[in-house]
Amino acid sequence: MGEQTSEQKRHAAEHAATFIESGMVVGLGTGSTAVHMVRRLAELLRTGQLRDIVCVATSNQTEDEARSLGISITTLEAHPVVDLTIDGADEIDPQLNAIKGGGGALLREKIVAQASRRFMIVVDASKPSPQLGTHWALPVEVIPFGWGTQRTFLTDLGAEVKVRSRADGQPFQTDQGNMILDCRFGPIAQLHQLNDQLNRRVGIVEHGLFLDLVTDLIVADKDGLRHIKR
Ligand code: A5P
Repeated sequence: MGEQTSEQKRHAAEHAATFIESGMVVGLGTGSTAVHMVRRLAELLRTGQLRDIVCVATSNQTEDEARSLGISITTLEAHPVVDLTIDGADEIDPQLNAIKGGGGALLREKIVAQASRRFMIVVDASKPSPQLGTHWALPVEVIPFGWGTQRTFLTDLGAEVKVRSRADGQPFQTDQGNMILDCRFGPIAQLHQLNDQLNRRVGIVEHGLFLDLVTDLIVADKDGLRHIKR
């Protein structure tokens, strides 16, 4: 990652943290952008600028990071409604639909996003895109049983499918013990149609299309920050 990109991620995420208010239930996203928000939140709590915050983490990785910084973690059982969730994205279009799941946390991320009153996405300049699928393969989370049939199903839908693997070559495992199939569709013209097809398929647990969920987008680019609201 270039220094400029990394700086933009930090800039967008730290700006998003200014929308957190004392007393809120906050959803903590996953990835190299969201982590800046988690660190900034910890600083605001440490210096007393914020208090009485409890957080729902979207991955084990984020939970570990937040706990190590002294942030209180709660569950959706204790707090079923989240006031504000701040998360990254892999690709986002002008209608604020997004592809997520580059870090493999898409299932918990979507659960937390759906439970949130406000769902804010923070990105660097490389993420906005005219049409989803132009830059990024769509991550599809499948249960290990029968995953080969999901590969055929996804190929028949027009995707070039790759099993996501770890650095040691073993299949990547999500926090739920599932696999990820990265599906290169190219630009996706019928987002809602694809969303419905994937939602109907048994064995597909979730996928990285986040449609009609994002309420706010913060983009950091070379000219500064833009805040776009739905
Ligand atoms: C995690 O599963 C993802 O949805 C991330 O939010 C997304 O991949 C963005 O990641 P970066 O902030 O690391 O680019």
